[in-house]
Amino acid sequence: MQEVPDLYMFFGRFHPLFVHLPIGILVFALIFQIYLKWKPNDALHAVLPIVWGLAALSAVLSALSGYILSLGGGYSEEILSLHKIGGITLSILSICCFILSFYRMPWLASYRNITQKIVLSSIAVILLLTGHWGGTLTHGNDYLMEFSPFVVTDSSSTVEHVSRISSLDSADIFKDAVQPIFQSKCVSCHNVEKKKGGLLLTSYEEMLAGGKTKAGIIPGNTATSEIFRRITLPTNHKEFMPADGKKPLTENQVAILEWWIDQGAQRNMMISSMKPNKHIQDLFSDFFQLGRDAILSYVAKPASSEALSNLLKAGFQVHAISESNNLLEVKYTGPSTEKLNLSLLESIREQLVWLQLINCGVTDEDLKIIGGLSNLYKLNLNRNKLTAGGLNELIRLPKVEYLNLYGTSVTDSSINQLVTLPKLKKLYVWESRVDSLGVESAKRLNQRVDIVYRLN
Ligand code: HEC
Repeated sequence: MQEVPDLYMFFGRFHPLFVHLPIGILVFALIFQIYLKWKPNDALHAVLPIVWGLAALSAVLSALSGYILSLGGGYSEEILSLHKIGGITLSILSICCFILSFYRMPWLASYRNITQKIVLSSIAVILLLTGHWGGTLTHGNDYLMEFSPFVVTDSSSTVEHVSRISSLDSADIFKDAVQPIFQSKCVSCHNVEKKKGGLLLTSYEEMLAGGKTKAGIIPGNTATSEIFRRITLPTNHKEFMPADGKKPLTENQVAILEWWIDQGAQRNMMISSMKPNKHIQDLFSDFFQLGRDAILSYVAKPASSEALSNLLKAGFQVHAISESNNLLEVKYTGPSTEKLNLSLLESIREQLVWLQLINCGVTDEDLKIIGGLSNLYKLNLNRNKLTAGGLNELIRLPKVEYLNLYGTSVTDSSINQLVTLPKLKKLYVWESRVDSLGVESAKRLNQRVDIVYRLN
């Protein structure tokens, strides 16, 4: 970055504000001039020099502030020079119009009409183009068309990309994980049009190469990788990235980048072949939303409207998981004054994948019903009075992946049984009768299950 005195830069930063003045005044001047051609009026004609004078003044001020802003760097050279030429030409043309508006120039008399037409239409065309280039410099190439129904934009395709991954065997570390992370949080400022800090984050080579001051990524070494340093600074540090208070990376995204760099910043490798440990596998499952995908791919037939209205009447909240698969989430939270009628849930057994009955008086007896809800994938029963005897009923659930029994009387012997659930991934048992020995032995029985035993 070139050194620019602060006071100049202060003026330069007003450029985005200034530019709207000449745009407005020039459009007004053009219309005014055409109107006078159509209906000549001496009194109004006398105002013309003032209008063009203001247009010229504002155009020159904008061009100057724009020039100073451009010294700060970080813009695509090509579009910047077009924008610059447009701004200077507009300033010169408006000064010409200003002079023409009061100085009659006898030598021009016979060409006056044609000169005027050429100058005015040039102003109109250059004004449009310069404005467009300016927009491209600040907002990026696809800003104008981003919400156009005719163009498929980049951002939507990244989203599809992420959810398309169905297992770590088919996910490429760079293409499917690293690149989408940079795409979502960094590329808006580090792209071809807007190369802040001289850094491009659109390709593998550019990421490693880095920006004006430092290499971006040193494979195998997070400590010396400038990109990693920037994303792990305190968020209020002035060098923290993403800059300008943009949404920071999530912990999960930072951890994935850390692992990628530590493993040698591979450019082309399937995640599963990099032998990720259990913890890293979980990071990626969360990142690719693998669990959710599996459940969303199942399509049930619609629940009967009678069953749904009965549930609502009984005080349950019922939500659709997505529009296309008819799967349902049912919730009941908070103390219930009456005994919940859980047998109503049996009428939506096929659709019910997510059940949350929190602190609402569920008993061991009720678990006989819940144990038969065979499509459950998430089950949250925290803070109910449940004991080992009742919890054994849950062993019948073939698809359950998340089981939350926090604040119940679950014991070591129950969790030893529960970890044998075929699909279980996460078991929450804090504030229960479980102790660390019980957790140890349960973990030995099934290492795949993450047992959350104490909040840290
Ligand atoms: C809102 C715009 C913006 C976003 C978003 C953004 N940056 Fe930056 N970045 C800048 C600016 C401006 C600079 C130059 C000033 C500086 O070096 O701090 C810069 C500089 C950098 C540099 C230093 C380059 C060098 O060698 O001097 C790195 C590394 C960097 N950014 C990484 C990132 C990463 C990684 C992300 C995404 C997590 C990101 N940036 C997102 C604006 C942004």
